[in-house]
Amino acid sequence: MGRIFVTRPIPGVGIGLLEESVHEVEVNGEDRVLERGELLERIRGFDGVLTQMADRVDAEFLDAAGEGLKCVSNYAVGYNNFDVAEAKKRGVVCCNTPGVLTEATADIAWTLLMGVARRVYEGERMVREGRFGVWSPTMLLGGDLVGKTLAVIGAGRIGYAVARRAMGWNMKVMYVSRSVKEDWERDFGAEKVGLREALEGGDFVSVHVPLNEETTHLIGREELGWMKESAYLINTARGPVIDEKALVEVLQAGGIAGAGLDVYEEEPKLAEGLVDCENALLLPHLGSATIFTRSEMGRVAAENLIKVLNGEDGACVIEG
Ligand code: NAP
Ligand code: GLV
Repeated sequence: MGRIFVTRPIPGVGIGLLEESVHEVEVNGEDRVLERGELLERIRGFDGVLTQMADRVDAEFLDAAGEGLKCVSNYAVGYNNFDVAEAKKRGVVCCNTPGVLTEATADIAWTLLMGVARRVYEGERMVREGRFGVWSPTMLLGGDLVGKTLAVIGAGRIGYAVARRAMGWNMKVMYVSRSVKEDWERDFGAEKVGLREALEGGDFVSVHVPLNEETTHLIGREELGWMKESAYLINTARGPVIDEKALVEVLQAGGIAGAGLDVYEEEPKLAEGLVDCENALLLPHLGSATIFTRSEMGRVAAENLIKVLNGEDGACVIEG
């Protein structure tokens, strides 16, 4: 039997599964991110920890937990908060929740894509603030979707689900990837292109790479300059993949038509000026935020811990 610590309450079936297991469970009952010092104090002596994106799992975390730690299971698919190499060196298994949040996150990417193109935020505010006078032929004209080109940066699970939705709009799909994806070419007639071609050719550019050293500021000032003035940039991956300060300048200058963002470089802080950009649609990291998806993430995160502590196969192990 092992001891498992959950750093923050999670909705759905996850905690119940842990409680029904042979392991002992302690949940930090307060619905807030534990301060670093508290976190390091609370994880001491546990065999497994169920973490959130805001919990940094590094050498200090691993030292604080102690030598008995066997598994850290992230309540997320992204694991840029983990030092996987350091954990591996110490024999600690790192896990995440791939797959179960793919469709919900693709839906949010499309919510942003349609919302920013059709100026939903500006229109909604106009109605609420009593500025909707009478229908006008020129009011809040936006961009079209049907027949346009979608460029997907990062052709993984979520990127694929975003591209699949584009078929309903008869869009041309291009993708940026480190390898050729035969299913993309077969299912969408999609073409593998370089980053520059994607940014120059995309009417909509949607970002789905994981955050790591290689992808930090993958889209910076120069790359933003490659985009068409009529194009929209959507980011549901991680904030630092885009240079947010440069993006604000480009949005202010009308260098692109708009941006739809679910994630930010210094989340939850926004780059100066972003909040005033009318051509940006901004969401508070809602990608996986559906009732079913968040429960499924809890199920997978809990099962990961149970499987690893039981010495069973089948956990979603991050290979690093
Ligand atoms: P995934 O299936 O692993 O897809 C990521 C893809 O990115 C992989 O296919 C990988 O390429 C590709 N890639 C990695 N580095 C690249 C690079 N330098 N250039 C081009 N492609 C690169 O992951 P996923 O499940 O789709 O999730 C993607 C990310 O979305 C997560 O890491 C997370 O940060 C984010 N996310 C956000 C939310 C939210 O709430 N907003 C929710 C879920 C996930 P290869 O195929 O060549 O290996
Ligand atoms: C959410 O951002 C995730 O990576 O699951």
